[in-house]
Amino acid sequence: MLEGNKIKIRPIEEDDIDIICQWLNDEEINYWSSGAWPLNTLYSKDQIMEKYLDGPSDVYRYAILNEKNLIIGTIGFKEVNVPGRSATLFIVIGDKSYWGKGYGTDAIITFVRFLFTQWNFHRISLDTWDENLRAIRAYEKVGFKIEGCQREARYVLGTYHDAVLMGLLRDEFLILHGK
Ligand SMILES: CC(C)(COP(=O)(O)OP(=O)(O)OC[C@H]1O[C@@H](n2cnc3c(N)ncnc32)[C@H](O)[C@@H]1OP(=O)(O)O)[C@@H](O)C(=O)NCCC(=O)NCCS
Repeated sequence: MLEGNKIKIRPIEEDDIDIICQWLNDEEINYWSSGAWPLNTLYSKDQIMEKYLDGPSDVYRYAILNEKNLIIGTIGFKEVNVPGRSATLFIVIGDKSYWGKGYGTDAIITFVRFLFTQWNFHRISLDTWDENLRAIRAYEKVGFKIEGCQREARYVLGTYHDAVLMGLLRDEFLILHGK
């Protein structure tokens, strides 16, 4: 179990699947997390169970817990590049009542510290889209820098949007947040 100031992070368990199922099929959450609705969603419970509990071994998913140890979101990494020691981060605070209260930033700081100090990653990448200013702000508070954009790479409800590419190096993170 990883512990931040407000959150804890642990592996995903079978009891988490029902709520994750609700989040993955929620229009507003998908709007922000992927800008895609309903293209890559509408999963059945069996598909979610398979994805989150038996999923591909190169995607690592964890549960984010609140102060009462209740699950409020998920976080993880994928696209591990072994020689480059880099990976791509993803996060969703699925319980909307926790948006904008610092839980996401605390979860990212806690998880990224784990990736840099325990997994020995050198660099963490992520991508979001231009309208998700809350996510961009949270990533910037952790130390991520905007490194580029992919013009009109996302199609959201009838309009093209830029994808925003961000990255964080281990040394930059440790200077900002320590070990
Ligand atoms: C993105 C997400 C992880 C951020 O976590 P969070 O707990 O909501 O964010 P925090 O409260 O830690 O930080 C949000 C920051 O953005 C700011 N913010 C919120 N809405 C904003 C807006 N519309 N424009 C600019 N800044 C905004 C907040 O004021 C806060 O900054 P501050 O501390 O300097 O005031 C969470 O909101 C989430 O999971 N959202 C839905 C799915 C999603 O977007 N996932 C990310 C996909 S890339």
